[in-house]
Amino acid sequence: METATKQRHSVLIGYGSSTGQAADCADIVADSIAADGYKAVVRELNDIPRHEPFIRQFSLFVIIISSSDDTDDHVPFNAEVFCHWLQTRPDLAGVDVALFGLGDSSYTTFNAAGNLLEELLLNAGCLFVCPVGVADDEEGSVFEQLEPWVATLTRAVRIIVPGSPPVIAQLPGSTMDVA
Ligand SMILES: Cc1cc2nc3c(=O)[nH]c(=O)nc-3n(C[C@H](O)[C@H](O)[C@H](O)COP(=O)(O)O)c2cc1C
Repeated sequence: METATKQRHSVLIGYGSSTGQAADCADIVADSIAADGYKAVVRELNDIPRHEPFIRQFSLFVIIISSSDDTDDHVPFNAEVFCHWLQTRPDLAGVDVALFGLGDSSYTTFNAAGNLLEELLLNAGCLFVCPVGVADDEEGSVFEQLEPWVATLTRAVRIIVPGSPPVIAQLPGSTMDVA
């Protein structure tokens, strides 16, 4: 019964990726959310309908995006159309979102696409459910850098998505249920 409730409230995960790392990160996020019993849908950002009601039917919109100097705005080709739509300031007021950027700090335009997306989502009225994450190629494995962010995101999902289990607050010397 509880799982059925969760399945009705799914999470939309959109990615923009040039060489596949952000796409793989999107799949990792989806697996983590699904392991908790929620439905997760993964799509290239350009394949997501540019229509506010479509996005609003999901409980949470997660975006994973890498940066590329192949394009003027540093957004990967498979995310450009969606980003241009966001630049028109669609009304996404109150939509819960989470954002993770991938980049390389050896570029002067480090995480430019992530920074742009953050600005566009804020301008559209979205609410960030956890701090914006970023992975830097210069710091080693992107997937290891993603891991703590996924843990934070998963905790946020349990709190904000309807059908979530109660949060158990641990107090020193006692356990208290906060339903
Ligand atoms: C051709 C090329 C251009 C890149 N341009 C940038 C850039 O402008 N800014 C940045 O922060 N990272 C840049 N990167 C680093 C990528 O964003 C980083 O490697 C990321 O993990 C790749 O993710 P993806 O496989 O999903 O595209 C570039 C990488 C390549 C190969």
